[in-house]
Amino acid sequence: MPIQTTSKIWHNGKLIPWEDATLHVMSHVVHYGSSVFEGIRCYTQPQGSAIFRLPEHMQRLLDSAKIYRMDVPYTLEELCAAAVDVVEANGVASSYIRPIVLRGYGEIGVSPKGSPIEVYIANFPWGKYIAGTGGADVCISSWNRLAPNTMPALAKAGANYMNSQLIHMEAETNGYQEGIGLDVNGLVSEGSGENIFIVRNGVLYTPPLANSALSGITRDSVLTIARHMGLTVSEQALPRELLYIADEVFFSGTAAEVSPIRSIDRIVIADGKPGEITKKIADEFFGIANGLKPDRFGWLTPVKVKAIEPVTA
Ligand SMILES: Cc1ncc(COP(=O)(O)O)c(C=O)c1O
Repeated sequence: MPIQTTSKIWHNGKLIPWEDATLHVMSHVVHYGSSVFEGIRCYTQPQGSAIFRLPEHMQRLLDSAKIYRMDVPYTLEELCAAAVDVVEANGVASSYIRPIVLRGYGEIGVSPKGSPIEVYIANFPWGKYIAGTGGADVCISSWNRLAPNTMPALAKAGANYMNSQLIHMEAETNGYQEGIGLDVNGLVSEGSGENIFIVRNGVLYTPPLANSALSGITRDSVLTIARHMGLTVSEQALPRELLYIADEVFFSGTAAEVSPIRSIDRIVIADGKPGEITKKIADEFFGIANGLKPDRFGWLTPVKVKAIEPVTA
């Protein structure tokens, strides 16, 4: 889906017109992938609008920057306030918020020293990432996720998404909606842009972060909701074949939210319908995000948006 533009983008402390948020082609980031970023959702709710887990996302942005020795000249509180400002300035609440910290125009050597740090925050409408409600048909990718001590999987860095693109393009080319990456040892890691969960015999499993998975904020929300429901939860290494014989499998992610998986490598999961535990967790997740259930974990940051919503997706 082509990007739906909004009016303003926050850049280094100022709101600037969307069309002015441009970069020089010789910027460090263009050549070496030197960026860290976030994806955050803002939801419209009956009582107003709210950003989902804003401080947790901005903290991960700062953590990603720290791993790459990028000094971000803004505090957590300033970044959170900036995200609220841009959503309110654009008047588009139901949206995806994209903060990005990048190395800009300065020097062209691999050393990033002489290139300035630039911080941008945009927001724009974005609908369902994984289409349909009946479950996605996905595959195991022939591409592995990032090996430990090569590209840090805990940093949400632009460069990591070259690997995600390979996984996703292969899946699409072969007629699947998404691909699952195994880690370098052949254990389940995550989707190209989502964490993954399995239910078997009433227990909820997800790979630990050491299997090259991103520390997903939605992953954490799912684990919190599941524990609160009294489910047994296990973060443990998972062999590929466990996916095929699981009772339920689903993805979690800011873009994907909670998305059931119907089949993997054309092997149908259970009866091919979203499972009961998946549905319960999704119901609680969407209930809180959409303001229909109490914000019992303190996950929402309210935003004041007056304009009419142009979002249709
Ligand atoms: C590779 C990868 N894994 C997992 C996730 C899920 O993370 P989150 O729930 O924080 O969006 C994402 C999305 O950001 C991702 O790109």
